[in-house]
Amino acid sequence: LIPYKGEKLNKRIQRIGLVTAGGDCPGLNAVIRAVTKTAHNDYGVEVFGVRDGFVGMVTYKGVDRGKVLTNRDASGILASGGTILGTARGDVFQAAGKEEGEYSIFEDAFSELKLDALICTGGEGTQLMAHKLYTHGFPVVGVPKTIDNDVMHTDVTFGFDSAVSIIMKAIDNLHSTAMSHHRVLVVEVMGRSAGWLALAGGVAGGGDILLLPEIPYEEEVIFKRVWDRSKQGKRFSIVVVAEGVKPQEGDVEKREIARYISTLIQRETKIESRPVILGHLQRGGPPTAYDRILATQFAVMAVDLVMKGRFGQMAAIQGNQFTSVPVSEVIKKVKRVPQDHSLIRAALSVGTSFGSAKFDS
Ligand code: F6P
Repeated sequence: LIPYKGEKLNKRIQRIGLVTAGGDCPGLNAVIRAVTKTAHNDYGVEVFGVRDGFVGMVTYKGVDRGKVLTNRDASGILASGGTILGTARGDVFQAAGKEEGEYSIFEDAFSELKLDALICTGGEGTQLMAHKLYTHGFPVVGVPKTIDNDVMHTDVTFGFDSAVSIIMKAIDNLHSTAMSHHRVLVVEVMGRSAGWLALAGGVAGGGDILLLPEIPYEEEVIFKRVWDRSKQGKRFSIVVVAEGVKPQEGDVEKREIARYISTLIQRETKIESRPVILGHLQRGGPPTAYDRILATQFAVMAVDLVMKGRFGQMAAIQGNQFTSVPVSEVIKKVKRVPQDHSLIRAALSVGTSFGSAKFDS
């Protein structure tokens, strides 16, 4: 079952660095645990946990940079959200006070921390950094994470399922108050330019109108659906809006889109409406069982990739099969919801609106 147990495949590898970068999400600690245990148990190599992402790696000094993780450090963290290593966003060169592309900061970090390889755990921005490092000769492997599920060439990233569960529970809770007050509640969810969270969370929670960045919305279609429901005696509606949505015509201020849509709905339909911005609640708390399992499998695979010397690869899942893909392919674009996705079709069939005449009719 463990083909390489005890065998140091890549004899050069004595210490693997592990970095968690970008926005946090549930499942990162499952990765830290599994990388540490797999490296120790299967290969007898050390793992160095880098503090606070790439930024910490190149700007911190001495012990602040992190520590060698023991099996004991990796115990008891599986169920907790966030990352025990800490994370950071932002331009790493700028943070280090260097010009873009001064990779000597990474050469110094690799040599001072005695890293023979680096596992880069993060979303699209982190994989882009991993790619840049790889093309400059650094031995890196990627592990995809993000609640947004927008990383290319993997069907799913860990963190997504946990966030979808949170959105579902929020919508469940909002139903009773929306019904009682005969209101339209407009729930804003994260996801950047991708609508995966709005689609999956909205379908799981039974949202009435789902607005995705991939389907530009028409105000009139939204108003009509709210009215139609009211006429049918359903005097409440739940609208789920992705933070990155766009109207079919014109443009809209991106911040607090739920507030904007809610104000419009109340003004046009004369039905009371309130915005609910779920925000960082979506990234907190313990990972679901699915995310713990996915994160563990990605992590074990990442260690195997390092030990086989297969750098420049990212762990991925495609059609229920674990595989690896070149990071150079992953960073080409973000993965957005295809308009012919089966979940859009399923949602339409159960009467969900997408705020678009083309889809709703
Ligand atoms: O990429 C994850 C994500 O949560 C996005 O959905 C959201 O747009 C962004 O991060 C929020 O970033 P921050 O935590 O920096 O506010």
